[in-house]
Amino acid sequence: MKISVIGTGYVGLVSGACFADVGNTVLCLDVDTRKITMLKDGIIPIHEPGLDNLVQRNAAAGRLLFSSNYDDAVSHADIIFLAVGTPPDEDGSADLTHILSAARSIGERLTKPAVIVDKSTVPVGTAEKVKRAIAGELEKRGVNVAFHVVSNPEFLKEGAAIDDFMKPDRIVVGADDAEAGKVMRQLYAPFSRNHEKFVEMDIRSAELTKYAANAMLATRISFMNELANLSELLGADIEAVRLGIGMDPRIGPDFLYAGMGYGGSCFPKDVKALIKTASDHKQQLHLLTATEKVNDAQKNVLFTKLVRFFGGEAGLKGKTIALWGLSFKPNTDDMREAPSRILIKALFDAGANVIAYDPVASEEAKRVLVAEHGDDLCNTRLRIVESARQAVEGADVLVLVTEWKEFRAPDLPFLAQNLKQKAVFDGRNIYDPEAFAAAGLVYEGIGRRS
Ligand code: UGA
Repeated sequence: MKISVIGTGYVGLVSGACFADVGNTVLCLDVDTRKITMLKDGIIPIHEPGLDNLVQRNAAAGRLLFSSNYDDAVSHADIIFLAVGTPPDEDGSADLTHILSAARSIGERLTKPAVIVDKSTVPVGTAEKVKRAIAGELEKRGVNVAFHVVSNPEFLKEGAAIDDFMKPDRIVVGADDAEAGKVMRQLYAPFSRNHEKFVEMDIRSAELTKYAANAMLATRISFMNELANLSELLGADIEAVRLGIGMDPRIGPDFLYAGMGYGGSCFPKDVKALIKTASDHKQQLHLLTATEKVNDAQKNVLFTKLVRFFGGEAGLKGKTIALWGLSFKPNTDDMREAPSRILIKALFDAGANVIAYDPVASEEAKRVLVAEHGDDLCNTRLRIVESARQAVEGADVLVLVTEWKEFRAPDLPFLAQNLKQKAVFDGRNIYDPEAFAAAGLVYEGIGRRS
């Protein structure tokens, strides 16, 4: 099939490359010409395991093309994916500027029948707006072209995006036209043996499904974080509780990990947007409002522990805190809504120094932190180093922020020797408290007996 994908962010680029890999000819468009130049040179603007190979291989085979030109994108395709950003507005609602402008650009050029697919995470009712935007442009031009808008939300996780796309647990398509639904079924056939993963529904339900999934996962996390804090008060261990409840197939083991609060470009934004959508319809989402509130508080939990350890906020002044990990989760350089940012700000405010190491997010973190705190503060109080060991040397205590694999089996005698205050704060509960105690280290996790 001939496909165009508008937007080369995570979702657009991964989808485009995966569709090309199963034999389609895909043109990826981005209005950011710098990005397109990089992609044409085989350089991937984001860190996503396996994506560079996939893009290079399909570009070399002539199945994956890049362009900044809407004329190329619209004339190329029978199916056009909209995968542009929907960042939160000030009031939390999703900003549809990019998606509607892309829709108009399509309408200005469409000359043959096409299926337009909303892949971006968009509020319920957006497909209708996209349809109107395209129809409006066609009308202005006085042409009549048959087109259908369908909703096809994406469920991929950063860091595992290619696997998630190639082996999806479900493919959700919302369509109000049987033919368009059939085209989507065919397109996804390579990813869904016997179409068993294909779930077709009406457009509005498909749009809501995306928010419902993220909201449910975010709520599980906040629930566990709240119970983790309770566990500490009760002398219980949230890790034991997690195993104890996760084996119930009705609950399941995933997304039950207490930690520093959820971050990233999706959960925080989508939870906010759904709360806003509901309030626009005069409904308050009590549960989700609590999910967000608990998460905001959880991002401060490690700082609170550090304050307690140092005998009050004043005790942190001049201390050096080592951070392992900066990105919002492993296998990505994404710093959006990363809990590390809240922690670093609080440490700066308390007068502490930060020495940090992240296997891939160093550059991105530097960029984000300099933009947030300015050059001066970052030059004097922040050091981003080249290895996990380097971060520990000269530090008072260590905080595990992101559970990258390389942090999972630390050299405990080295930590005990180098950390001035011999203490480790485990923001992801990946360590064994007993092993740390045996090595002479103070250990504190989230909601654990230590
Ligand atoms: C999330 C969803 O998992 C995807 O299904 C969805 O497609 C995507 O958003 C999206 O809407 O585009 P992602 O944001 O890449 O994917 O990352 P997750 O792996 O879901 O993690 C989100 C946050 O939750 C991270 O900060 C992670 O550390 C945290 N988390 C996750 C926990 O604190 N505990 C857990 O048990 C799991």
